[in-house]
Amino acid sequence: MRSETLKPKKRRMSNITLTMIKPDAFSKNFSGKIMDKIYDAGFTIRAMKLTRLSEERAKQFYAVHSERPFFNDLIRFMTSGPIIAAILEKDNAVDDFRKLIGSTNPEEAEEGTIRKAFAENIERNAVHGSDSNENAQIEASFFFSGKEIF
Ligand code: CMP
Repeated sequence: MRSETLKPKKRRMSNITLTMIKPDAFSKNFSGKIMDKIYDAGFTIRAMKLTRLSEERAKQFYAVHSERPFFNDLIRFMTSGPIIAAILEKDNAVDDFRKLIGSTNPEEAEEGTIRKAFAENIERNAVHGSDSNENAQIEASFFFSGKEIF
């Protein structure tokens, strides 16, 4: 066997988005149903883990919102229990995933979207999705090392 065949395949990380199944949805055992919707929409999983954000890590992840009035509540919520973080791949991953999850506020989310089905309110909104290709790369690296991405 040639040694190259043992090396992991190096693939460029384009067409990816980063999702979190947030503490509200995880604690209500919605993870499987949410993953079904993600697979049905044509995404594949490049990386996935069950983890819990520390206060410091949550503040780092949501640093862009640090001046917003909801920031402290958001950090308290996002550190309140385990989350599932995953890198998802698909053509046009960021935009297609944002369509699949629906508006930040579930009251405004379209029928059939993940947030319409599983979110409680604008804060406890079941899932996160990256808002740009640039942030998808940053957020993917926040959760996963190169060896954890397949
Ligand atoms: P997310 O997509 O993870 O990105 C930022 C999060 O902040 C968002 O989902 C919501 O959980 C939360 N958020 C955004 N706007 C508000 C708001 N007006 N009130 C409370 N939480 C908010």
